[in-house]
Amino acid sequence: MKLAVLTSGGDAPGMNAAIRAVVRTVDGAGSEAVGVRHGFAGLLAADWVRLGARDVGGIIDRGGTMLGSARCPAFKTAEGQARAVANLRAAGIDGIVVIGGNGSQTGAHTLAGLGFAVNGVASTIDNDLVGTDITLGVDTALNVALESLDRLRTTAASHDRAFLVEVMGRDSGYLAVAAAITGGAEAVAVPEFPTTPEALVATLAASRARGKKHAIVVVAEGFPGGAMGLAQAFKARPELGLDLRVTVLGHVQRGARPGAFDRLLGTRLGHAAATALLEGRHGSLYGLSESTVRAVPLANVAGRTRTLDPALLRLAEAMAR
Ligand code: ADP
Ligand code: F6P
Repeated sequence: MKLAVLTSGGDAPGMNAAIRAVVRTVDGAGSEAVGVRHGFAGLLAADWVRLGARDVGGIIDRGGTMLGSARCPAFKTAEGQARAVANLRAAGIDGIVVIGGNGSQTGAHTLAGLGFAVNGVASTIDNDLVGTDITLGVDTALNVALESLDRLRTTAASHDRAFLVEVMGRDSGYLAVAAAITGGAEAVAVPEFPTTPEALVATLAASRARGKKHAIVVVAEGFPGGAMGLAQAFKARPELGLDLRVTVLGHVQRGARPGAFDRLLGTRLGHAAATALLEGRHGSLYGLSESTVRAVPLANVAGRTRTLDPALLRLAEAMAR
């Protein structure tokens, strides 16, 4: 059997662990593994390389993805998908593991719809995939955001300042809320549960009235206007007396060395997805539920987004006393 693996969408710490697990599982079964470069773009260009167990040595500790990743609009078309399957079949490839987030798993589902054997590995720092409690990469990205928040709080406290800290998440506030809870932020703004700049100003005013001299507000990238937009609203209220600074963390959160959690998760999910293909089970996304690796049909995942648990947002607010 000949099985391929690709990484797609935004890179996430732990993708290399998942690639390594797929390759070593396939290799260990006496089958052939192929790495596809730059996600679905590599399927369209038939850009792949044979990978043996030694070729994936020394990557488990590296962030990013050794295969490269991409966003590939051409793959969203029926013509692109048909070409991808034709290229895979022409190369004698029997199945593929797609490591990526929402869009990538939607793409994986289209391959399954064309009769090609595919399994997914839930991977995105946004943690917004249906069918898994947590996605590959989010733990490491959260720890990067947290280290930054800890540092910013130190300087904020020294100067009695307020900081607006923007974390990633175009459509997802998970990273922001988790960073706010673990970093002890005074307020958090996410796209899923809209609040107004006025309400956030009021939250900070109340926090100052309770004796807090400095403040951290975590703002998800997807909150309308982002941290820069919110800063304008705060600056329009000089009577608050806030000495305000803005920090946008951006891609720094994606580039870290994966921590133990993501190395273990990537290894477990990659191994499970590849084992299933070797045994003729396909059409599923592999994720984690109740600490156990589980497969959910790609049909239940494609085109959907897991919404932020409102209880987490309430927890962040309850702790900001
Ligand atoms: P992520 O997988 O991290 O959510 P994207 O949403 O950018 O990242 O999706 C990555 C890639 O998956 C896209 O560039 C495209 O090639 C493919 N993809 C996304 N949506 C679809 C879709 N509806 N149908 C087919 N392929 C898709
Ligand atoms: O989906 C992961 C993610 O990091 C989002 O949080 C962010 O909005 C987006 O990717 C950034 O994408 P790009 O790397 O293309 O700028």
